[in-house]
Formats: sequence, C-alpha cells, structure tokens
Amino acid sequence: MTTTLPNHADTDRLAVGNSLIAQDWEDLTFKVHRSAYRENAVFNRERNEIWGRTWLYLGHETEIPVNGDFKTRTIGGRPLIFVRDSKGEVRAYLNACPHRGTILCRETEGRTRTFQCFYHAWAFRNSGELAALPDSDAYPTDSAFVDSVSLREVARLDIHEGFVFIAFHDGVPPLLDHLGKAADYISMTASIGKDGMTTLPGIQKYSVRGNWKLAVENAMDGYHFAPTHNTFVGYLRETGFAVTDHDQYAHDLGDGHGLLVLTGHNGRIGMVWEPRFGETEKERIVGKRAEMSERLGADRAATIADASRILFVFPNLLLFDLEALTIRQLEPVEPGVTDVRAWQLVENGEPDDVRALRLKTMASFVGPGGLATPDDIEAYEAVQRGIVATAGFDAEQFDWSDMSRGMADDVAGPRGRSTDEGAMRSFWRHWSKRVGEIAGVNGKVGQ
Ligand code: FES
Ligand SMILES: [Fe+2]
Repeated sequence: MTTTLPNHADTDRLAVGNSLIAQDWEDLTFKVHRSAYRENAVFNRERNEIWGRTWLYLGHETEIPVNGDFKTRTIGGRPLIFVRDSKGEVRAYLNACPHRGTILCRETEGRTRTFQCFYHAWAFRNSGELAALPDSDAYPTDSAFVDSVSLREVARLDIHEGFVFIAFHDGVPPLLDHLGKAADYISMTASIGKDGMTTLPGIQKYSVRGNWKLAVENAMDGYHFAPTHNTFVGYLRETGFAVTDHDQYAHDLGDGHGLLVLTGHNGRIGMVWEPRFGETEKERIVGKRAEMSERLGADRAATIADASRILFVFPNLLLFDLEALTIRQLEPVEPGVTDVRAWQLVENGEPDDVRALRLKTMASFVGPGGLATPDDIEAYEAVQRGIVATAGFDAEQFDWSDMSRGMADDVAGPRGRSTDEGAMRSFWRHWSKRVGEIAGVNGKVGQ
C-alpha cells in the first residue's frame, strides 16, 4: 500500500501519522486497524497525546449561572471541579486535595464559597486559595507555603459562545485556532435564540461498552441512518415527513473536527416544520424565522435554520443541532468503555409549550430511551464485541475495518456525501497524527 499524497491543496489534511491507518490513494481504500479500539497501549497513548495535549470540552457556562455554583465531572480521566467563583469567573480545578490527593469535592453539583476536604479538613475558597488549615502551628507560616497548597487549576480555560473548554497542557494554541472552522458552527447554534441559549438543569448519563472513537464514527456516519434507525424512519414516514438522504453532506473541518449537514432527516423546532410538531408550532415557525432573518440577515438565518447539523469538535464534543439541540460529551474510561453525558440546549425565554415540545422531541430521538440512541449504542457495542474475533489475524488482513466509502471525494475537496465515510476518515487521519507510532501494537501497513 502507499500513502502518496494526491494533488490537493491541503496536504496536511491527508497526512497519516501511524501504521494503524492504511490509506491507498491509487485504489482509494482506507482501513483502520482494530487494535486502535482494543489495546491499552493505544488508550494510554491517547491519554497523553490527545486528552493531555489538546482543548477538551468541559461544560456550558449556563450550567453554573450563579456565583459559587459548581459541578464535578471527570474529563480526560481527571476528576475536575467546574465552578463559578464568588467574583463570577468560570474556573476549573483538579478535584484532588493539594494535601494528599483525596477527592476534594464529593458532590456532583451545588453552590459554595469554599470546598473542604473531609480527610484532614483543609478548606479552599472557590477562587482557589487555601482558606483554612487545621492546627496550622505545625506548618511554615510564610505565604510561600500557603500559596504552594492552593487548588490546582487546569492549565488553560477559555469560552466560546458559552461553551467552556479546558486544556491540561499550557502549550495548546488559542482556543479559536483549535476550533478553526468548527467555531462558526458553534456560533450558528448559539445564535438561534434572540435572547441567547441556556442548558436545562439535569443531565443524561450513560455508559457504553464501546471505545470512544466508535461514538465519534457513529455520529459522523450518515450511511447507517436508514438501516440502523429503520423504526424511526418508518415512524417519520407514518407521520407524513419525507425522509431523504439526497443533498446531504459530510464536511472535513480540519484538525479532526467534522460536520454532517442534513436537510431530510427531520424537522427543526422553531425553524422547519414537520407534522409531529403540531399546528401551533407551524404558525410559530413563521414568526421565529422572520425574527431570525431580521436579526441575523436573511442568508445567515437561512443557513442556520434550513439544515440540521451534527458537529464533532475533536476530541470530546458533539453538538446535535437537529429537531432539538443536544450537547453530548464523550469520556473514555477504558479501551472498551465510554461514559456519555448529554444536555439539552434551549432558547432563553421560549414559551412553555415549545419547551415541552423540545423535551418530548429530544427524548424521542437522541435520548438514551429514544428511537435512535439505543440503536446507535447497540451498533457500537456490537462493533466492540465483534472486533475481538479478528485479533491477531494480521497476515490475512482480517483485523482491519474498512472506511473507504466515497474516498474519491476526499481528493476533490473537504466535502463529501453524508452517506459516505469522509468525516470518519478526516477524524482518523488527525487521530493518527496525534498519537503517532505505538510500539508493540499490531497493525503494519501492507502486511
Ligand atoms: S488530604 Fe485533604 S486535607 Fe488531607
Ligand atoms: Fe445513529
């Protein structure tokens, strides 16, 4: 096999960094070695080279609206406290007591000015400084010691349109550079509400027995929609919505980010009507679209409103701007286990009946008990169960997954059909560049 680059302006987009990826630009085939989903060595390398060295989605500003509000969650394997301090600043601390490393905050959410460790009762302000040190006489009295035991803050934190990102490594580029073309797609969703957007209280959490990259693939995979979700597709047809895969696209946004743009899979609350939304919503959509056109300009409003979008921001954020709006966060736990968290994003100030419709619609499709997500979870758990069958059959080339569909479009440019596998390939190319070669892992090109 060869990795000779085609004549394409964006050659960086097409480079491959390790032998777990086999792409052939003559035969137009692209394969991923299945050890990438199974091996601890790969998982550990990802922890360092991806989760330790790039921007990660932490949460939405509106999850902690009031000073002192906090949430705890684990990101990239590190327990964190996500808090708005008493001055209103959004911060993120490693949730480990500076004294001896105990989990400092054992609540999942709350409001507080201080965090006190239960072990020896050291306490810290929500702005990070040591607030109380029991029996402090036995410690050095100088401020250097006190400073040295303040809360450990993440290396970087920045916010784009309310979406809070962190990095554990100081050497990351500015957030907007990292987001690149993905930034504007976040902005599009953020500008749907004339008074801004907010996350609803509550979180959907579930654990999947599958590698985190299978969740990325699944979200960027329009090919599976009709066969895997045939119950949902049938339901939409029965309600009078014409489901189609025509004129729908997958975009390589660069740096591992991807986008599906879909016009024929579902309606959009407030923007594109479908029968199951009901007649009241039909009338409201006319007014809502007029308001968006006036505020954003007709072209921008149409771009935002006409099409549904599934945006993947490398490596852990999925933004489902579909019939309702869902933020999904991926958290790898082990090679074969991923925690998933989801929030509902809504327009500030929208009427109660619209809010109710949004919740009902969201739960009917992308929720863990909806008509789509359980299908998807079954699909990627079935992959994880299946890929052990071929482990070790390298000479026969059985141990590779094929993602060649529509690869000719990669040569033409960054846009392909949503039912092809281009958005997966761009993810994997970026992934392979980041993790590099991994010693002791199967997968040699051309074996
Ligand atoms: S470990 Fe937290 S006070 Fe000792
Ligand atoms: Fe799906």
